[in-house]
Amino acid sequence: MVIGDTTLPLVPYPVQARAGAPVRLTDRARVVAEPALLDEARLLALDLSARTGFGFEIVADPDPTPGDVALRRLGSTPGDAYHLTTADGVVRIEAPDDAGVFWGTRTLLQLLDHDADGWFFHGAEIEDAPRFAYRGAMLDVARHFFSVRDVCHYIDLVAALKINVLHLHLTDDQGWRLEIEGYPRLTADAARSAAGGDAGGFYTQDDYREIVAYAARRHITVVPEIDTPGHTHAVTVAQPEFTEPTVISDDLRAQSVELGQDLPVHGRPYTGWGVGFSSLKTGDPGTDAFLDDVFRQVAALTPGPWLHFGGDECLGTSAEDFAAFTARAAAAVVGVGKTPIAWHEAGKAAELPPGSIGQYWGFLEPDPAQAEEARAFVAAGGAVVLSPSDAAYLDMKYDEDFPLGLTWANGPTSVRASYEWDPATVIAGVSDADILGIEAPLWTETVRTIADVETMALPRLAGIADIAWSPRDADTRTWESVRGRIARLAPAWHAGSVRFHPSEEIPWTQA
Ligand code: ACM
Repeated sequence: MVIGDTTLPLVPYPVQARAGAPVRLTDRARVVAEPALLDEARLLALDLSARTGFGFEIVADPDPTPGDVALRRLGSTPGDAYHLTTADGVVRIEAPDDAGVFWGTRTLLQLLDHDADGWFFHGAEIEDAPRFAYRGAMLDVARHFFSVRDVCHYIDLVAALKINVLHLHLTDDQGWRLEIEGYPRLTADAARSAAGGDAGGFYTQDDYREIVAYAARRHITVVPEIDTPGHTHAVTVAQPEFTEPTVISDDLRAQSVELGQDLPVHGRPYTGWGVGFSSLKTGDPGTDAFLDDVFRQVAALTPGPWLHFGGDECLGTSAEDFAAFTARAAAAVVGVGKTPIAWHEAGKAAELPPGSIGQYWGFLEPDPAQAEEARAFVAAGGAVVLSPSDAAYLDMKYDEDFPLGLTWANGPTSVRASYEWDPATVIAGVSDADILGIEAPLWTETVRTIADVETMALPRLAGIADIAWSPRDADTRTWESVRGRIARLAPAWHAGSVRFHPSEEIPWTQA
């Protein structure tokens, strides 16, 4: 019932885990929880029922009987830690806070299995806490739009892997996806289409609240991104007065010919994939007032601490203008009560507010200037989120022939390549104390449906979640271990009709 003799079928793998006596499940099994944990109990019961068909009565009662799952708040070190045991036929999940209990329930779902005698939980004694506080997944809803329902589905998939941050890339050249009061054309005109000429869409503020609430119930923080000053062609469609003329470079011209895509035209929706041709009017009081308005409304929709203001690929903005703009944008984010996050280029800002977070998206072998930009955030008393594009970008093809995805980040990224890296060795001088966490972005130029999202994210996101959670020196932090453990996730994915990529790198037959 365990892989080898000691390894449990868990991704990410816990800090300490020992196999124990299994717990058999019957249709009389209950989830027993103290009142403050009834929500976690309900979510667990729903997921267990979906797999087993059993009812799982929820009982606000401190006294479990054999076969029950008992949830309890216990302990003193909050921050996602939990303890799980299966002694005496009772599954106990205990944690200092409800987030820890929730992550414990995600572990329990991976311990669920069945054999000729029916359903059981693998026996385990687990003591667990994450390596990084920020374990992120990003979804680009600008290149292609994904409905509230699709985003909530993705939240469930990532929560199962103990991912606790969902970064939504809400605006880009191809579309503006969030209603902003006072600027109706942003959604009436600038949200209508998507990459490849597909249909667009946008979230009303109520839609967005629904996503944030759905995520929060699963202890996931939503980080909204309003990309500035570049990646703003959509703004030219709605509010051209805040934008610079479109700059068509030779590279963009060549790429557009190669891909058979139209060049961007200021004021008209863009459906290609080129980058670097759009900019807000930096240094303009009207633009600053617009952004203040946008940030204020986005902050009001955001219970989490962070607001991402982009800052990437501003190829047409002079270095001086970019440095000044970025400092103002970061200050504006602070002004609406949030901690700024920005792509690493914003490390060139004239001044970074203390505590700002830089998101590194260069390669595993950094360009020295990019590494310096990332380090600027640490120097300003902030930290770094690592998303090395040749390992953590989920939109890269798995192999040359893969039908979806791109290859610009050092070619395709195999499951193995997405796993075999360590956050503390990417940028010289940036070690665990300077790293808030890691994040796996999924850009959606070629990713059109939620099935495509599942295929590109899984199984790679499972390995990345293992990096984010498990200790760096754990015996299980090896490709041989993780590929065997990922194989064991397949039954749950099949049961949920998840269209993961059945990569030949994974020994699925173990499942
Ligand atoms: C990025 O990939 N432009 C952040």
